[in-house]
Amino acid sequence: MNEKNGPRPLDYQATSFSQGRMDFAWEKPTPEERARSYADWRAGKGLIGGDPRQRPHFDKLPEWGLHRPFLRALALDDHRAANGERFRQEIAGARPVEIEIGFGRGDFILDRARRMPESRFIAYEVKTKAVHLALRRVEKQGIENLWLSDDDVRMSVPPTIPDGRLDAAHVLFPDPWWKEQHKGKRLFSPPFVDLLAAKIRPGGYLHFKSDVEQYGELVHYLLSQHPAFSHHRPELADQVGPHLPTHRESWCRAHGKPVWVYYYPRQHEL
Ligand SMILES: C[S@@+](CC[C@H](N)C(=O)[O-])C[C@H]1O[C@@H](n2cnc3c(N)ncnc32)[C@H](O)[C@@H]1O
Repeated sequence: MNEKNGPRPLDYQATSFSQGRMDFAWEKPTPEERARSYADWRAGKGLIGGDPRQRPHFDKLPEWGLHRPFLRALALDDHRAANGERFRQEIAGARPVEIEIGFGRGDFILDRARRMPESRFIAYEVKTKAVHLALRRVEKQGIENLWLSDDDVRMSVPPTIPDGRLDAAHVLFPDPWWKEQHKGKRLFSPPFVDLLAAKIRPGGYLHFKSDVEQYGELVHYLLSQHPAFSHHRPELADQVGPHLPTHRESWCRAHGKPVWVYYYPRQHEL
């Protein structure tokens, strides 16, 4: 599943990416571990930055996010701006909606939003500074179909996106969280796959890439044994279409590191 004909790394500049440790370990969860992962999910364990309700002014948007295509699930009703109202209207419309989770510098999603003006995009990145920078690029480039959020996607998507509303979810180079004590922060877990199954419409798909082969194996295991998803279908690459690589992918390609790519269609019938 090593991608052979990858997209051109057009706007890559060398930065401080390192290869990192490549000893990602995972095992098929036992029934007890599976039950624990659901209990942890319900308790909000593993959320990046902790429980957002504990943050001061969690129900207020930051000043810099007012009147911009910026979303925080807990501040949707901040009456100082119509962000929430505008977001709800867009989601309620009939246009296709795609999300990217962990967009980093935003190369992939800004390019995709420009290429597909008829679709709507929502992109999540917990690093607030990165969101701030990407928002400036969105506005500078006149992109009008992309919303950004610095929420942890795991708490943001359930209350804001109706079931079956997404045409695609792109998860490109998620953090591996190598250390045993950090495993709980890993994005992919049984309840996260349930969330994808609920929000992606039948016929939609999950698009996943990683330079950590074993993370790909974990995702492959979790998706393949989930009744809502079909097995990896490489031909879905055509449906994703041409796209810019993410910053991490550009780095991998510049350094000759392999990239694993998977596409999982959401089943029509369960
Ligand atoms: C390894 S970086 C990859 C960034 C980008 N996709 C790329 O390929 O260059 C993973 C990104 O996901 C973000 N992230 C991790 N967990 C997240 C979560 N639960 N919700 C939203 N963003 C998350 C991190 O802050 C980080 O910027």
